[in-house]
Amino acid sequence: MSEPQVYDIFVIGAGSGGYHAALRASQYGAKVAICEKGKVGGTCLNRGCIPTKALYSTVKLLEDIKQKSKTFGVNVSEPVIDFAQAVERKNKVVDELVAGIEGLFKQRKVPLFRGTGKIVAKDAEVNGESLFQCSVEGEDNVELYARKVIVATGSTPAQIPAFNIDHQKILDSDDILDPNFNQLPQTLLVIGAGVIGCEFANIFANMGVKVVMLEFLPSMLATEEKLVIKELQKSFDELGIEVNVSQNVISVQATDTGVIATTCDASVPKEEVENAEKRTFEADLCLVSIGRAKVSAGVGLEDLGVEIERGAIKTNPKTLETACPGVYAVGDVTSPIMLAHVAYYGANVAVANALHAIGGFDVEPKECDLSVVPYTIFTSPEIGSVGLREEKAKEKTPKVYTGRFFYGSLGKAKAMGEEKGFMQVSADASNGQILGATCIGEGAPELISEIALAMQNKITAEGVAETIHSHPTISEMVLESVEDVYGMAIHKAAHRRK
Ligand code: NAI
Repeated sequence: MSEPQVYDIFVIGAGSGGYHAALRASQYGAKVAICEKGKVGGTCLNRGCIPTKALYSTVKLLEDIKQKSKTFGVNVSEPVIDFAQAVERKNKVVDELVAGIEGLFKQRKVPLFRGTGKIVAKDAEVNGESLFQCSVEGEDNVELYARKVIVATGSTPAQIPAFNIDHQKILDSDDILDPNFNQLPQTLLVIGAGVIGCEFANIFANMGVKVVMLEFLPSMLATEEKLVIKELQKSFDELGIEVNVSQNVISVQATDTGVIATTCDASVPKEEVENAEKRTFEADLCLVSIGRAKVSAGVGLEDLGVEIERGAIKTNPKTLETACPGVYAVGDVTSPIMLAHVAYYGANVAVANALHAIGGFDVEPKECDLSVVPYTIFTSPEIGSVGLREEKAKEKTPKVYTGRFFYGSLGKAKAMGEEKGFMQVSADASNGQILGATCIGEGAPELISEIALAMQNKITAEGVAETIHSHPTISEMVLESVEDVYGMAIHKAAHRRK
């Protein structure tokens, strides 16, 4: 009989959280194995962040040509969108990055088993050591043992039976990013005006599709700063995107010619919906983007005493260890914040704690701290935010100063023809600590990282303002905004405040 395969860490799922965990653990010298039933890179790389940003880049180029070329002195004929080509490029970007991660696994000697991973038992005796017995079933069929297990099984688009997602005409975000989805509809109904809904509405409307959105809440992107939403609404209006808020979508049906959604006002109580006044919306295709559901079934966790609440694996929020000692969870399957960068961070935390617990690795334990998490939304203009919204900051802190600076007043932005939007930074007036920031405009997702760095490291608004920022750069949006916290932005007529 062959020797049992024993690893320090076995990672289930090779999405953002899982592949980071495996590669990070290998950097510390741990013996790691990972399994994946689909493609490595998971949602973010195959059906989320990266493919949408590839399509978004097509749209940015198109926008630049349409909006800038003539006045910038570049004469080109009217641009025509070739969606099939844009999709081909998107697929190539994804394929190359997937191959890149597989290559890293090889270089770092992390075996990738293809199939569904499961924890079979928790107290298997191997060579006198008590280990987790795990299996992989699928293309590879393997039995292995591990000292620690990290579960990173992710999330999937949320489904509502009344929406009849048939993956043909009524689609979820996986379908619309499918490598073979390469024909543009003329009209698109988007249900849910959250992050996914708004990013796709922006992409497709820019490509000439008539987009109609249906949102249950009284606003799109309901958690964002009101001024930001107002700015985005202007851009959506220009693109002809129709945003219908306060709509309770009762049903979505495929028809011979397309789709039809029936709604009533969101204020109508459940028991009165049947008799309430209805509206109908028709389109060629419908995208349902109403949130994501966590994927925790089938991993064998229930038998180990791991707590699962509505699909979410419960962990100690500081260590990311579950109620079963030695089993950790990271990423969408556990995190209250379903973002790839939170999964990356969680992977670092879980790996450090797991290896420290095993002993013999040069790594200190880590406490998970999600107090400063940047958020980004890739619409045009782009959005970035971190920390508290101004209103919330004011609820929590006796005196708040908010600095605000507009792209139209910045030399580099003007030179680039990127004059839409603004950045604002709120700070505690008593000590200058930055409480939150939001930005809508060129490069907002990049700019917000500087504020996140300042917040995480307790650098005050003054401290950021004292840092020399290169000129001419868009990063001066940060400089002028933090200066404006004290009414000291050079390129803004404001009064000094102390
Ligand atoms: P979401 O929670 O951001 O938005 C869903 C929207 O659908 C909400 O506004 C909600 O009120 C609405 N809704 C829910 N049920 C509805 C119904 N029956 N009828 C009408 N409206 C309804 O979820 P979304 O957009 O699906 O995104 C899922 C996750 O993916 C989020 O956690 C998001 O942070 C993440 N994501 C992050 C991106 C980024 O960082 N750039 C890009 C895309 C997604």
